[in-house]
Parts: sequence; C-alpha cells; structure tokens
Amino acid sequence: MTDLATDPDYIHTFTPAEQQRLIDQALFLEPYHHVGLDFKGCTTVLEVGCGVGAQISVLLRRWPGVKFVGVDRSQSQLERARQTLASALGDHRAELHLAAGDQLPFGVDSFDGACVFWVFEHVTHPLPILRDILRVLKPGAAFTATEVFDRGLYMYPAAPATAQYFQAFTALQAEFGGDPDVGMRMPGLLAQAGFVDIAITDVSPTLDARMSAPPARRAFLDYFQTLLLSGSSSLLERQRIAPALVGQVQQEFTRLADDPAAVFSYGAKQVRGRKPS
Ligand SMILES: C[S@@+](CC[C@H](N)C(=O)[O-])C[C@H]1O[C@@H](n2cnc3c(N)ncnc32)[C@H](O)[C@@H]1O
Repeated sequence: MTDLATDPDYIHTFTPAEQQRLIDQALFLEPYHHVGLDFKGCTTVLEVGCGVGAQISVLLRRWPGVKFVGVDRSQSQLERARQTLASALGDHRAELHLAAGDQLPFGVDSFDGACVFWVFEHVTHPLPILRDILRVLKPGAAFTATEVFDRGLYMYPAAPATAQYFQAFTALQAEFGGDPDVGMRMPGLLAQAGFVDIAITDVSPTLDARMSAPPARRAFLDYFQTLLLSGSSSLLERQRIAPALVGQVQQEFTRLADDPAAVFSYGAKQVRGRKPS
C-alpha cells in the first residue's frame, strides 16, 4: 500500500498543512461541486480516494440519512480522516478502509451510489478503478466524478508568471503519471468501464465582475493562489521553476484582486454515469 507521507510522486505533498488545505478546499468548493450531487434515496455511498475525510464531512452534513464509506490507499491520509470524522465514525454514519481504488474490499452490488473528487488526475491507470467502482455499485446506482481540466485555466488580463508556473505544475503532475486534463477524458473512460447514461457538466469556479465584494474576491483568489502554490515545494526541489517566480505569481494574484474587470476561471468537470440496471 502506498503511504502518501513517503510517496515522492504526489505534487501537493503530504504535510499536515497540506492535509488542512484539503479540508479548507472541500468547504470552499462546496457551492460549486456539491450542488450537482444527488444521493436522494441512497442508504450507503462510497467515496474512493477520500483523503483526510474532507468531502465526507461535507456529504454527511448535506445528506443526513446517508452512510458514507471512504476508501484511500494512504495510511497517513486515513489517520487524519479518523480525526476529521471521529463523531460520524462513532455513530456508524461513516466508515473508512485502507485499500487501492482498483481493489475495493467490498462485494458486488454493495452501494447505492459512489463519488470521487480530485483523484483521477493523480492516477496512471484510471480504468481498473472505474471498473471496480462499477462492480461494487448496485444495478442502476449513480456515480459522480469531479475532476480537473487544467487546460481550462483562463486569466484576464494575462498573468504570464502564473501561466508559466502552472505549465510547470501540470508538466510535473503528468511526469508523475497523472493527467491534469483528465476531467475531459472522464466521460469516455466511464463509457469504456461500462457505465451508461453518462453526462458531463462544466463546474469551473469562476471569478469575474459579478463577484464584486472585495472580501469575496480576495477569498476566491487566496484559495486558488494557495492551491497553485501547494506544488511550489515539489517544483523548487526539482528546479522546475526559479524561486523568484513564486513571488511574481503572488503579485499577479494581487493585481487580479484589484482589477474589477479581471477574470479567473479554474477548469473543472463533473461527470455522471450509472451502472446498467
Ligand atoms: C487530492 S486528494 C483528494 C482527497 C479527497 N477526495 C478530497 O477531495 O478531499 C487525492 C487522494 O486520492 C488518493 N488516491 C490516489 N490514488 C489512489 C488509488 N489508486 N486508490 C485509492 N486512493 C487513491 C490519495 O491517497 C489521496 O488521498
């Protein structure tokens, strides 16, 4: 089993600060990525690659009648998840398992629904995972994956340092065996795995002049600056960026916050499919 604390090929790193970032991220992105999820009528729902339990804690609040079962291949992430979800684990509203996504420790037709957030971007072979999710879903049950489409990053006015930084970030992620544009490939992958009724929605968080309140603009841009810079130690260690680039990225984010005409859109796709009935 891979322990992320010692996995050198994970761009975000596995420090406690990074684990806290996942919790902040799930809350910040909840309005963009949880509104499209539908677990009505479900009793037990699986999350593959549950990390530190950040999404499950949001899901437990939004779906009071549902039990959520999280699986992750990293012991250190699950240890943190046990803290995040302590009360739900005690109440048997949540369960956590150490396992790889393509070796789920459950029988066929076990779950009423399943979801994944931000996992396939880090995975070299997504199909075995999707096929195992299909296996453990009940006939007719729905699956939703929320994944990045990094090529969809749009900034106006142009932010050349951030564009250069992001190019290095996505190149390193691809070198690690991931696919920073996997969101766009997900519908086809679901079809190859055997899912039906597949649909894709653009769920790219976007800042433009409609977001006029300065605190909201600052919070939005702070979140994405932190997300991007979560890869900076990996990039600096491997000398993929010059140290000065980090400061230039920070300056460009400040300019975007101050410019009422600025646009910042971060590519994300939500893909749904069902197991055939
Ligand atoms: C970016 S984190 C996302 C965690 C969580 N879904 C969230 O949104 O907060 C990716 C997680 O996927 C897990 N992961 C990556 N590949 C996996 C695999 N093949 N099987 C199980 N977990 C995997 C990692 O251990 C990590 O915890």
